Amino acid sequence: MAVNQRTPAPGAVSLPARTHAGRITGGGTSGNERLTAVTGGALLLPLAVIGVTLLQLRQLLSVHLFVGMLLIGPVALKLGSTGYRFVRYYSGNPAYRREGPPATPLRLIAPIVVLSTVVVLVTGVALLFAGPSSKNTLLPIHKVSFIVWAAFTGLHVLAYLPRLPRAFRADYGRAAQLSGDITGRTGRILSLAGAIAAGVVLAVLVIPEFGPWIHNSGVFDHHHG
Ligand code: HEM
Repeated sequence: MAVNQRTPAPGAVSLPARTHAGRITGGGTSGNERLTAVTGGALLLPLAVIGVTLLQLRQLLSVHLFVGMLLIGPVALKLGSTGYRFVRYYSGNPAYRREGPPATPLRLIAPIVVLSTVVVLVTGVALLFAGPSSKNTLLPIHKVSFIVWAAFTGLHVLAYLPRLPRAFRADYGRAAQLSGDITGRTGRILSLAGAIAAGVVLAVLVIPEFGPWIHNSGVFDHHHG
């Protein structure tokens, strides 16, 4: 009897779900959607921490700088997975064409979400390396881009939050274990873990740059000119 991929060898445990999971890549459009959604979910906690630091920036500046740098990892993965869908869609890939574009309002705000994210992060990194002397030039751009970012990404998150449980269940729920197609799940887990680890390493590497800002955190007191 010929044994092929589909026919388990005599006595072998047939683990279709697990063999798929072992494959690093794959999963097609639903794999991409799950990676994007789960990465979005992973962004919620660090974004919330950044929000809290803004309430007490003078005291929490080092947390703001550290978590701001850490965010670069998962944000890069988020832009990567959504950018991949974008390129496959516009290059006419049948599966992504069938999946269709995001809902029109979300499609319209997506460029603003991406651009404001990039400007907030780039001006944040520039501020860190340029030091407190750049507060009159870069800080206003950082603040204005943050306000734009918060408004549009807030809409983005409100729209997509309800999708998160389904994306998590599709890869990590009980049904997924038993019968669901979790092709590429290992790759998605490794990508997200790798992106977060890269963010942490980046944040640790730049801690020496925090000094000038921590010692000058008085710059955030409103009565300073
Ligand atoms: C820095 C913050 C973020 C950026 C730059 C970003 C960017 C994007 C972009 C460009 C898209 C594709 C366009 C679209 O479908 O609208 C997208 C899709 C999506 N985002 Fe975000 N996002 C961010 C945060 C979040 C957060 C916090 C969540 C969690 C609720 C989230 C959940 C999603 C979901 C579920 C999709 C649709 C995935 C799909 O159907 O393929 N995003 N994001």
